[in-house]
Parts: sequence; C-alpha cells; structure tokens
Amino acid sequence: MQLYLDTANLEEIREAASWGVISGVTTNPTLIVRERGADFKTTISAIADLVDGPISAETISLDAEGMIREGLEYAAWHPNVIIKVPSTTEGLKAVAHLTRKGIRTNVTLCFNATQALMAALAGAFIISPFVGRIDDSGVDGSQLIREIVAIYKQDTTITTSILAASIRHPRHIIEAAIAGADIASCPFKVLQQAMRHPLTDRGIEQFLADWQTRT
Ligand code: E4P
Repeated sequence: MQLYLDTANLEEIREAASWGVISGVTTNPTLIVRERGADFKTTISAIADLVDGPISAETISLDAEGMIREGLEYAAWHPNVIIKVPSTTEGLKAVAHLTRKGIRTNVTLCFNATQALMAALAGAFIISPFVGRIDDSGVDGSQLIREIVAIYKQDTTITTSILAASIRHPRHIIEAAIAGADIASCPFKVLQQAMRHPLTDRGIEQFLADWQTRT
C-alpha cells in the first residue's frame, strides 16, 4: 500500500518527502484555505515540484460543466495533477468527460460502495472512501474499504485505485492496508505518530547511555 500526504502545507510536504515514503499528495478546499493567502495554482505547482506522483486538486463547482472547466484548467498546471470531484451524478459526468480527454480523476467524499462502483465504471483513477468520517458516525469505515475491494476484484476491467481518506490515527493506516486499500492519504501529524514508539526512544537512550560507558 502506498502512502500519500493529505495537506497543502509545503513545509510538511518537504519534510515528509525527505523520509522517502510519500508517493502522492491530496488536497481539498479546506486544506488549501488553511494555508492562509496561498494562491491555489502556485501551491499545487509547488507541491508537484516536491513530490513526483499524483497531486489531487479539488474542483468546487456543483455541476459537471463547471467541474470539467476547472479540471481542464488544473490539469494544465502539471502532468501529475489529478482532478478531484465529489461522489455525485454531476461528478460522474465530469469523470467520464475528463477520462475521455486523458485526464485522471479522484472521486472524493465516498461514503458507500455503490458510489465507488459507479465512480469506477465512469473511469475514475482513484476512489476516496472517507474512513475517519464514517468511523465518526459510529460505523466501521474499514468495512467500506473491504466492500469496495471485493467489488473491484469481481470486475477485472476496473483499474481504479482505492485511497483511504480522512485518516485520523496510525491504526487507520493499518486497517486500510489489511482491508486491501491501494493508498492511505494521511495528515502529516499521523505520519509522525506512525513512526513513534516509546520503546524505540527508550532503546535509543539505553544504547547511547551504554556507549558512553565504553572503555
Ligand atoms: C482527502 O482526500 C480528504 O479530502 C481528506 O482526507 C478529508 O479528511 P477529513 O475528514 O479529516 O477532513
């Protein structure tokens, strides 16, 4: 399973990219706005300079025509830009159109397996089930991943990648991998937490202390 970073913060992306574990980046309107005053195009282009992999840029239109217009604009910024559209029927139309034009899409805000099936049939490059928000509602988000994996497996013509989105803690990464997701897109904080263990810290301390006693 690949790891993407779920942020528009260039410092976080620069740091995580240096760890050698990041294959792509996802952004959304909230994450872009969080980087106060940053221009959308400049931010996406800067991210594409830092990470050589799919960079998701989200449309804000509600109708297919607007999503397609935005998608064509964003896709021209860099060959690695993936156009994010919502799991709606207008989103499906945009996916079908952009796919015919050779532009890759990420169908976001996926909360059930039928949305995932229809996104794949329309030609989505990535489907993004929101495991964290599903867990928040009291339902098991990783079960949705398992359902999508099973459905996609049945149809060998489906090549859509399953991206576990809305990752809230390191355990979500493990659950997504075991459920069969192709990608987990994680906030920087979760990636930092994922590499921490008190016994690792204690072990380093002990090794250093022992090293100081060498004769
Ligand atoms: C990623 O593509 C999503 O936009 C993101 O993971 C949403 O995460 P949230 O539910 O923490 O806002």
